[in-house]
Amino acid sequence: MRIIGTGSQLPKKLVTNDQLAHFIDTSDEWIRERTGIEQRHVMTNETLEDLAIAAAKNAMDDAGVLSTQLDYIICSNMVNEYVVPSMASIVGGHIGSQCPAYDLNAACTGFLYALDMADVLLKAGRAEYILIISAEEPSRIVDWNDRSTCVLFGDGAAAVVVTKGNSLRSIKVSSKSDKSVLYYRRPLEPTPFIIRDKNTGPLCMNGKEVFKSAVSSSLRDMQYVLDKAEITKDDVTYYVLHQANLRIIDFIRSHFEAKQEQIPINVNKYGNTSSASIPLLLDELNRDGKLRKGDILVLSAFGAGFTSAACVIEWNKSAN
Ligand code: COA
Repeated sequence: MRIIGTGSQLPKKLVTNDQLAHFIDTSDEWIRERTGIEQRHVMTNETLEDLAIAAAKNAMDDAGVLSTQLDYIICSNMVNEYVVPSMASIVGGHIGSQCPAYDLNAACTGFLYALDMADVLLKAGRAEYILIISAEEPSRIVDWNDRSTCVLFGDGAAAVVVTKGNSLRSIKVSSKSDKSVLYYRRPLEPTPFIIRDKNTGPLCMNGKEVFKSAVSSSLRDMQYVLDKAEITKDDVTYYVLHQANLRIIDFIRSHFEAKQEQIPINVNKYGNTSSASIPLLLDELNRDGKLRKGDILVLSAFGAGFTSAACVIEWNKSAN
């Protein structure tokens, strides 16, 4: 597998920490200190499909691939206004593609799960070009009165186009089921046959438990993929990490003794955009001309589930 194009799109509305402090009991100082977040983009009049379509088009332009050339569209998404049809199939309709299209939900780890699926499809000879989109609107599932969750998240969409190649040097995806530390239970329609308490509500999170799990799974997964690719931390150009919290990122940086410039960051600008965070960061690096052929990238993410994943990519956007 090889990434040949990247794209992204954010909602227009930008909300700073100070603006949040107008309606919840928080402060810029608390949020910056505990998370590194300074602002986030949130949905207003746009829909998530608007963002997903724009991100997809940007990635396809960057790759020079037409919608008719796509063999699959995979969209990682936790939640959006439509349960059916899938976000992938909605995007496919807009861009004029008729290839198979499906969503997958691995929470914030979704982009790496989608890369893994794409790699399998390419290796099986089932595809030449695959569009992967990560589109997320966590602002729609948090309780905006709960200061311990709503300050952490932001909305956005990002996409990549992948084709056959040898860039993916190693990958590990995993999950360890735990419904109690991070979950969102949405309401379903009532029926005449169901008699039980309605136990739905906004996103629930035990921040400290998530923090511990995130650090331990990231360190474990990243060491595994380095070993599997038969390289060491000295070979790594960039660590492209899930942008949930600067303190988690710092933990990983000090464990791998990485230099600050090896750890690109955008959690300060966008908050935690769930599975969109890694492709958003990749798109920024790509468009800023920071990625060179042969660069070694270690990607790592974690999320509700509890899911986690990491991979090593040798950047090789143009075949030659
Ligand atoms: N503003 C001000 N105070 C806040 C606050 C906010 N936005 N959110 C929580 N607090 C308060 C708490 O009420 C608590 O007050 P108390 O001591 O009077 O009870 C205090 O700050 C400490 O809260 P605590 O939960 O212990 O803070 P923490 O150091 O664990 O930081 C998180 C909280 C959420 C920032 C941190 O646990 C975290 O980042 N976890 C990982 C979350 C994550 O990444 N989730 C996404 C996974 S994909």
